[in-house]
Amino acid sequence: MDHFDYRDGALYAEDVPVADIAERFSTPTYVYSAATLTRHYRVFDEALSGIDHEICFAVKANGNIGVLGLLADLGSGFDIVSVGELERVITAGGDPARIVFSGVGKRVDEIERALEVGIACFNVESEAELARIDAVAQRLGVVAPISLRVNPDVDAQTHPYISTGLKENKFGIAIERAEALYAEAAERPGLFPIGVDCHIGSQLTTLAPFRDAVARILALIDRLAAHGIELSHIDVGGGLGVCYRDETPPTPAEYASAIAEMLGDRPLKLILEPGRVLAANAGILVTRVELLKPGASETDKHFAVVDAAMNDLIRPALYDGWHRVVPVKANAHGGQTRAWDIVGPICETGDFLAQGRKLTLAEDDLLAVRTAGAYGFTMASNYNARPRAAEVMVVGDTMHEVRARETLADLMRGERRLPFT
Ligand code: LLP
Repeated sequence: MDHFDYRDGALYAEDVPVADIAERFSTPTYVYSAATLTRHYRVFDEALSGIDHEICFAVKANGNIGVLGLLADLGSGFDIVSVGELERVITAGGDPARIVFSGVGKRVDEIERALEVGIACFNVESEAELARIDAVAQRLGVVAPISLRVNPDVDAQTHPYISTGLKENKFGIAIERAEALYAEAAERPGLFPIGVDCHIGSQLTTLAPFRDAVARILALIDRLAAHGIELSHIDVGGGLGVCYRDETPPTPAEYASAIAEMLGDRPLKLILEPGRVLAANAGILVTRVELLKPGASETDKHFAVVDAAMNDLIRPALYDGWHRVVPVKANAHGGQTRAWDIVGPICETGDFLAQGRKLTLAEDDLLAVRTAGAYGFTMASNYNARPRAAEVMVVGDTMHEVRARETLADLMRGERRLPFT
């Protein structure tokens, strides 16, 4: 459930008309709903209430300081993949002791900073990284808490670009290698193996791949225990899908009870790294129709050129992502009813937000792209020298600018001509 609803034909974010947000902050603008984020976090947390658990929000899904701060206040931990995400969490008021650090290529300076602030755990993705973290920790005179990210070789049945738990993917340590590496980690003075981790993919719409992965990981935990390596947590990653169109992903309650059932009465803390399921439906991208380019005949393509583009929301171009596009005010200016392709001004054929959507549109109409709160702004770029959008968080009847729109000066910051030209 979310808090973007129509009242008298006008779209509201909580108690604020979306048109008022566009008026004040212009477009394109990402709009988040604090009540929706809060609700999603609480539903997820309550579904896990019978289990010793820690929710570590995947910052890559939405790294806005306002979003992270709200989640930190709700008690969330964080899953990070770079020192940039680490500093964002710290700036937002997140607790470093509730941070897990994932990612296949952690640099030495990133490891140093994470050790300095005392994160909860490094999710180690390779043998080389194990040696690197050990060396850094020893040099700093500390012991790094680690878990191995194990690649359980299961097919998550999602888009190949966001499937991560197959042997052919670059992620994690092959499950057959894991026992030997835990034994090696236990011998290294700079490391303390405390858990095991996996993440098999994103936008998962069935429980079967999660079950397969958890079963394989639990079997590994048992084999390790038999060799005297006792782990205290299992991190099952993120990946729970959401409804963009007509998907019916498992509910957080179904997901939680499947995991709880598998864990049984093992004395293991459960760590989860949800991103999309918390943030996606808590955000929309608001854009304005610049101009219309209807085809000559009904069967031709009809283009509505809007002021948001693939640089603002790349999911349609990159993964064939389908996002619902709705009017901010139905028939605001009358207009033409067609099956419109909603396209941006960027010089690429792949620059579309949606295709073939039956809408009545006129110049200046506002549209809202739904389910844009995860992997929306975080994947935005400056392609075609386009400043990145503003981000606004609505709390009840108040709008807060949680990130100002970039300026043209921001675009050129740090650049200069050669001195001799
Ligand atoms: N943990 C790890 C280690 C991850 O790699 C990811 C996502 C997550 C947690 C969070 O997964 P989620 O709960 O959000 O599914 N840009 C793509 C999604 C990429 C996901 C990358 N990893 C998209 O827009 O669909």
